[in-house]
Amino acid sequence: MDKIIIFDTTLRDGEQAPGASLNAKEKLEIARQLVRLGADVIEAGFPISSPGDFASVKEIATKIKGAAICGLARAIKKDIDAAYNAIKPAKSGRIHVFLATSKIHMQYKLKKAEGEILRLTEEMVKYARKRMGDIQFSPEDASRTEKDFLYKVIETAINSGATTINIPDTVGYAEPEEFGVLINDIMNNVPNVNKAVIAVHCHNDLGLAVANSLAAVRNGARQVECTINGIGERAGNASMEEIVMAIKTRRDLFSNVSTAINTKEIYKASRMVSKLTGFVVAPNKAIVGGNAFRHESGIHQDGVLKKRTTYEIIDPNDVGFTGEGLVLGKHSGRHAFKQRLETLGIKLNDIELDKAFSRFKVLADKKKTVYDEDLISIVEDEFRKVSEIWQLDSLQISSGTNITPKACVKLKSKGKFFVSSSSGDGPVDACYKAIDKITKVKGELLDYSIQAVTRGKDALGEVSIKIRAKNQEVAGRGASTDILEASAKAYLNAINRVLSKSSKSTGLTL
Ligand code: KIV
Ligand code: ZN
Repeated sequence: MDKIIIFDTTLRDGEQAPGASLNAKEKLEIARQLVRLGADVIEAGFPISSPGDFASVKEIATKIKGAAICGLARAIKKDIDAAYNAIKPAKSGRIHVFLATSKIHMQYKLKKAEGEILRLTEEMVKYARKRMGDIQFSPEDASRTEKDFLYKVIETAINSGATTINIPDTVGYAEPEEFGVLINDIMNNVPNVNKAVIAVHCHNDLGLAVANSLAAVRNGARQVECTINGIGERAGNASMEEIVMAIKTRRDLFSNVSTAINTKEIYKASRMVSKLTGFVVAPNKAIVGGNAFRHESGIHQDGVLKKRTTYEIIDPNDVGFTGEGLVLGKHSGRHAFKQRLETLGIKLNDIELDKAFSRFKVLADKKKTVYDEDLISIVEDEFRKVSEIWQLDSLQISSGTNITPKACVKLKSKGKFFVSSSSGDGPVDACYKAIDKITKVKGELLDYSIQAVTRGKDALGEVSIKIRAKNQEVAGRGASTDILEASAKAYLNAINRVLSKSSKSTGLTL
């Protein structure tokens, strides 16, 4: 089986994406994750482009072990020198020289004729090869280059010492069948082609970067250039996770090739790149999008619960996805609802289940997603009321810029009123501390979220919290048009659960 070399260019072409700039520390962090992923070559940057880029490529070349480190260079001596000097410390280094070969680039950008391009290819590849044994050459805009000329350029580059020839679809113009034919033609028309690895580098302007890369692999390319989350110039580059998972998932079509990528690291790499570049991953992005393994339709959920592969072609664990797969919402069915209650330790008889399911459907019509706390509160409301040991009577809060937030709380229990006040780090903290003084239950806030249940400025705010108190982790919720009142109610709801014997006996604590 042939190995497909994964050449990751997240730190070079990926970082060229408008707005994606990364500092040296962030690049190093991503490079470490790329090694954990098992990328074979990391294109760390374009050393001549700035002193910062040079320093960062050099740092990566010095500190990162476990992958070849590559630096980009135009077919110009000073670029090649910079790339060489930055890459030199690497145990295994590669210089990547590129030179445009399409008519439009030669005429308008380079203002050079074919003969000069061939001469430069020979001279610059030889120049680079004198410095390093591993040289990659890219005829930029190859997919729009006249074929006979492209063959000549490739042959010249290989004769001059290039060990990898990369065929870029620089402007994302190619179409899969056509690109596959191009690779096949190169394989059959360049006499010395077997002396180099043929690579591809596809851009996504027509949304075809992954399809083009896969077509190239099927026609003999043995290195693919890609980026995490598909980031890169304009519409981006081919996405590493999509290429790797396509090859892994469609063994029937790619039976003769494999990659060395540890797919379980994919999700982590995607999150890291998204966090550090600030580029949010679309929920529907293949492999790494938040919804890539989530099912909401009742029919799909039922299928997945009966046999995962009815609606999942990839096991989410294989890419390191750890989120919840079945999202409860208005399209969910009874099967998924019952199963989620069971994972929360709640067992209902058939009549109870019917009632709870109708309540769930009403709620799901109002809310996009129904969370575990919502389910618990439905069950408690219907069947297992939490005794309201403490109730909120009134609340006064003072808070603002440059003043210490203070809360005064009046609670009611068994017909009696109790008042206390406290200051805190914020109004919610002050309020919770005042409540603690009265109830004598000290809750540690583990989670707090607020959501508008209705629309408009007068929307009902719903606060969901999780606290730890008396060795229990308990959820609480409260709703009001005043979000501080909703926060106080959520906290009291959780405290009442802690104190309520029923919450322990029915196992409804989270
Ligand atoms: O898209 C492109 O052509 C490139 C080259 C430098 C390989 O990024
Ligand atoms: Zn590119």
